[in-house]
Amino acid sequence: MSEVTIQVTVLRQKDPDSAPYEEVFDVPYKPRMNVISVLMEIQAHPVNTKGERVAPVAWDQACLEEVCGSCTVRVNGKVKQACSALIDTVAPLTGNIRRLHLAPMSKFPTVRDLVVDRSRMFENLKKVQAWIPIDGTYDLGPGQRMSQKDQQLAYHFSQCMTCGCCVEACPQVSEKSNFIGPAAIGQVRLFNSHPTGKLNADDRLEAVSGDDGIASCGNAQNCVQVCPKEIPLTRAIAEINRDTTIYRIKKWLGK
Ligand code: SF4
Ligand code: SF4
Ligand code: FES
Repeated sequence: MSEVTIQVTVLRQKDPDSAPYEEVFDVPYKPRMNVISVLMEIQAHPVNTKGERVAPVAWDQACLEEVCGSCTVRVNGKVKQACSALIDTVAPLTGNIRRLHLAPMSKFPTVRDLVVDRSRMFENLKKVQAWIPIDGTYDLGPGQRMSQKDQQLAYHFSQCMTCGCCVEACPQVSEKSNFIGPAAIGQVRLFNSHPTGKLNADDRLEAVSGDDGIASCGNAQNCVQVCPKEIPLTRAIAEINRDTTIYRIKKWLGK
């Protein structure tokens, strides 16, 4: 059997202010490769298909096991973690070629090549106070019990790795909109159902009540379809929508 080549087209950008451009690399295929291993091959041999030696492609990675979310890129048009995207799955064989198109996520500013700045997500987590406030200066004891059902649901939401897939897929997120996005709403659902987190539930509901909050969600449900952790985002959106309405009515009544 003749050798298989992965033809990799990368949407590159030198720095945040430069114009993007495409560069093509040929990488020899090996069984069980993933997108990161293809990028590592390019890094070891950064020569494009014109025979030019170029700067190696920059990308983000950390855990390499779909836990940190930092390697998220668009792979053949779909947003995925580069570390868990297997070439056999994402780039089907046509003749002796597997075609791979890699691009940075489009809803975040590009820092360089495939590296983006996901600060907007972290800023939104700060906005909704996605944490449990404890001062940690003394032993708080075992805390309140949670039912097993609540624990199971909380576990789903706690798996969010701020990867950005849901934000990338959401039609309501754009350069012109400051919509808080589905991941932050999922974290409001998580922390508002925690026995201690409930103490700040109203602050979180206030944070998602504004113009850029939950009311901007168009209910397209793209987010839930792309979440690699299968987090029930549309359930969170429906429940937080209801809680926000109750919160606003109570606020209006002065309760
Ligand atoms: S359901 Fe809402 S948050 Fe999810 S993709 Fe649609 S508009 Fe965005
Ligand atoms: S909710 Fe899912 S898709 Fe969105 S950031 Fe978290 S893990 Fe990623
Ligand atoms: S490197 Fe952490 S999710 Fe891919």
